[in-house]
Amino acid sequence: MADKITSLFFVFGIIGLWTQAGCGESNNKYDNYTLFRIYPIEESQFEFIKLLQSSNDDIEVLKKSRGYNDSTDVLVPPNRLQSFKDLAEKNHFNYDLKNQYGRSFESPERAPRRRVLRGFSIYEYHSFAAIQEFIDTMASKHPELIKLQTLGSSYQGRKMKLVKISQNPQAGNPVIFVDAGIHAREWVAPSMALYLIHRLVMDPEARKRELRGVDWYILPVVNPDGYEFSRTSKANRMWRKTRSKSPISNCYGVDGNRNYGFHWAVSGVSNNPCDMETYAGHKPFSELETQMVRDVMLSNPKRIKLYVSLHAYGQYLVYPWGYTASILPQKWRKLDELARKVSQAVQNAGGQPFKVMSAGQWYPAAGGSDDFAFGAAHIPYSYTMELTDGFEFVFPENRLRNTLPELYEGFRAFASEIRNEFSNKRFRDHNV
Ligand code: ARG
Ligand code: ZN
Repeated sequence: MADKITSLFFVFGIIGLWTQAGCGESNNKYDNYTLFRIYPIEESQFEFIKLLQSSNDDIEVLKKSRGYNDSTDVLVPPNRLQSFKDLAEKNHFNYDLKNQYGRSFESPERAPRRRVLRGFSIYEYHSFAAIQEFIDTMASKHPELIKLQTLGSSYQGRKMKLVKISQNPQAGNPVIFVDAGIHAREWVAPSMALYLIHRLVMDPEARKRELRGVDWYILPVVNPDGYEFSRTSKANRMWRKTRSKSPISNCYGVDGNRNYGFHWAVSGVSNNPCDMETYAGHKPFSELETQMVRDVMLSNPKRIKLYVSLHAYGQYLVYPWGYTASILPQKWRKLDELARKVSQAVQNAGGQPFKVMSAGQWYPAAGGSDDFAFGAAHIPYSYTMELTDGFEFVFPENRLRNTLPELYEGFRAFASEIRNEFSNKRFRDHNV
């Protein structure tokens, strides 16, 4: 009898521990935060939002509004809720809000056994290790299409592998370079990159079309340390930066997309290493991860014709310049035109159209990879693509199955335009 009781105890004890570590997580930092979606309509309100962004407050600005009908999204901690509401009323803001924001976060931990039994689903979020395994498996199953290039290791030692997909690597085809996941919490971006790999290799139609006369370089997780950190608990789910230790403080992480060496730190950055969002680093390319992406760009100077950096969220497709709102590249019309074709293709597939403009017209922020690709590596087409809208950074896993294929149509449009403009004659599409 005594034995039975102890073993029962033992079982419940384990379950107790399990729920605490796994789904329980009652003391998640964001549980009692409130999400405000503010719709500014007057100039003074836009100004106020600018102030919000720069105040060193525990309020987190997730996304900035670009004019009417587009929200500025702000996460407000419980102790600031009332004062923030008062502020919003005083400034006559239109807003809606969502209480207990963190409770909607999915638990990142999945039972590992489930994964092994069912294999790797392209429509789920995965650990970096599982992503790596997927890439390795794909490469060993399709050596005729995929070559992996190890670029180096992240700050914490995770191997970064560039996935090169080509029917004929010797042909010198134009290259489309796609990266994702420089921002840790934007999980849908690496998912999209993996979906691209999956479609390009597994879909015979895609092989015939998107791989005809065009090669693809894909780096699915630029910031694996941050990505893993954002998976460790719901409290870390909103992590954005890398995980390097600051040499000048006790804080961690640099915003990789403020770290590129082109007009570095001239706008839209923080100089404070303890800032959670936009710390630019103590010098350009202080981060190993941004160095590796830079080196991919610079070591293929003639071949990369299109660079796309995948982010979330807001459904924007923006092009240089990002560091300023006041000038556009000389050939901005070409950038704009291609982006609109891509947006149209996604819309035709049932997806949301993209808001197309220069990154700086959305909001100026220097040190982005898009500006470096265009301005320093001289890649003729360069974009930041902000995937999805309506779920902020926690895009629900169960929507991947519908959304990724819609977005793929945008990449199909990219490929056909790049082929037409840059490919060897025999690959061009002819209008009849
Ligand atoms: N949400 C992205 C970021 O803040 C937008 C980057 C656009 N590009 C730019 N150079 N500002 O990093
Ligand atoms: Zn981002």
